[in-house]
Order: sequence, then structure tokens, then C-alpha cells
Amino acid sequence: MGNDSRGGELRIHAFADGAAYARQIARALGVPFAPVKLHRFPDGESLVRVAPQAGRHAVLVRTLSDPNSKILDTLFAADALRRAGASRVSLVAPYLAYMRQDKVFHPGEPISQRVVGKLLGEAFDAVLTMEPHLHRVKNLAEVIPCEASTVAVAPAVARWVKRAAKGCVVVGPDAESWRFVEAIARAAGAEWIVGEKTRYGDRRVKIVFARTPAAKRAVIVDDIASSGVTLAEAVRELRRHRIVNVDAVVVHAVFAPGALAMVRRAGARRIVSCDTISHPTNAIKTASLFAEALRRVR
Ligand code: R5P
Repeated sequence: MGNDSRGGELRIHAFADGAAYARQIARALGVPFAPVKLHRFPDGESLVRVAPQAGRHAVLVRTLSDPNSKILDTLFAADALRRAGASRVSLVAPYLAYMRQDKVFHPGEPISQRVVGKLLGEAFDAVLTMEPHLHRVKNLAEVIPCEASTVAVAPAVARWVKRAAKGCVVVGPDAESWRFVEAIARAAGAEWIVGEKTRYGDRRVKIVFARTPAAKRAVIVDDIASSGVTLAEAVRELRRHRIVNVDAVVVHAVFAPGALAMVRRAGARRIVSCDTISHPTNAIKTASLFAEALRRVR
């Protein structure tokens, strides 16, 4: 069990903060799990330690929320796994931060997406992630120069919509969300609309819906909730269109402090998320989707 035609026996690795999710992947594949140990020195530097690899395909599972503190340790782990003898080192990053800064929005800014992508592409042979906000590129390998690909989460979200929000209109808060919204709505057999969003700052957006849908209940779907203003404004705008029964589903529940309460205050009924980032709103499981993707490359 667990032999990988492209890199020896598969073994799943994770830091302590992601062990529960990684163990789900290991269990689904029937392969071993091994922890990555992390030591913090008094000066703030870190040291990672991994077990001997003996030619294995090492898969590190690490969600890259809170990225500034996590990315460096993730790169150290990739290096450690290779030096410990792994023949192939892959990263499963259920959430991959910095993917939204995908162009120079204002003069003087970097394209952070490309900087992070280059670091990961050099460290790993393969990277798998979910809904990484690829609105201006065709595929993830353009951003992360290795065997990088995305795992579809729309079918899992559609199953939730079909089961828990029958007869709703599926709503995308902005034009960039339309592919995701359409995939979910088609799979759920629902009507769908997208809004026009203008962002005036980190915590200020305006959303306009050109038409009022026929349905009397709505589910807003989005790739990420960060400050929460997109969800809150979409809820308020739908309520202005007399749709009072509004749920929200996001893939990545970043939810900055106060964000969830703000979306609730705006009038959202249920707020649920996929479990790519551990959060009280988690209701849609995703580990098995990564296990399935890893099974296909074995
Ligand atoms: C933007 O294009 C994304 O799809 C999300 O709508 C956005 O990043 C959510 O951020 P916030 O919660 O801060 O409005």
C-alpha cells in the first residue's frame, strides 16, 4: 500500500498546527503520517526536523494562512525532507495566501503572487491547492513553476447548496467570482447572478446587483472571507432587493477579528466554510478531495 510510481512510497507530513487535517489525508490514502518538528530559538529563528525519508515521496500538508510566519518554515521543511532522502517532495496547501495580489494594482507595488509562487516552485516538485483566485492566469503552473495544480471544490460546495439551501439563487459578489458561481449553480441546478463590486479600501466595498432574482432566498458563495466586508455588503444589498433569507458559503475562512460578527450583523442567516482553514464555520470537508488528487498521481 502507498507505493507511488513517481517517487517511491508516499508519506504524509505536517507541522503540529495541521496534523489533524493531514492525518485525514493519510487515512484516506492508507499511507503513514509523520510529524514535522518545529523548534523556535530565543531569537525567533526556527529549526525544523523530519524523519529519514529513504527514497519516499514526501507530501507536506500545510495551509498557508497567517503566511508571513508560515512560509519560511514550509520552505525549510521542503529542504529538510529532500536532504533526509525524499525522492520527491510535494506540498498540499489547502489555502495558499498571497494569490490575490496578482498584478500591480497601483504603481510601486510588487506582484506578491509571483514572489510566493517562485519560492514554492523552487522548493517543491508539485503543489496542490484549492480556489487560489486565478482570475488573470490560466493555470497555477504559470504562477508556481513546478507541477502545480488546483483541486476543484465547487462540486462539494454545490452538494451543500443542494442539500441545505434548496430553491435558492446562487450569488457571486463580484464579476471575478462568476466561474466559481456558475460551476456551483449548474451542479446544484440553481439560478445564479453575480454583482458588480467596487473596492474603496481594505474594509470598504460597494456591491450592486443589476437584476433582482426570482428566488426568495440566496446563498452567496465566494473563495475567501477576509475582512468580511464583501459578504456583509452582499448580504445588505440582497436584503435591499427583498431577499431576506441569505446564507453565505466561503472556501477559505480567513475571517479577520470581528469579521464574522459583522457578516452576522448584516443579516446573514447561516455562514459556513470549507475546512481549508480551521474555523468555527467549517461545514464542508476537503481533505478527501486532496487524497483523491494524490491517489490520481500515484
Ligand atoms: C476578491 O476578489 C475575493 O474573491 C473576495 O471577495 C475578497 O477577497 C474578500 O475579502 P473581504 O472579506 O476582505 O472583503
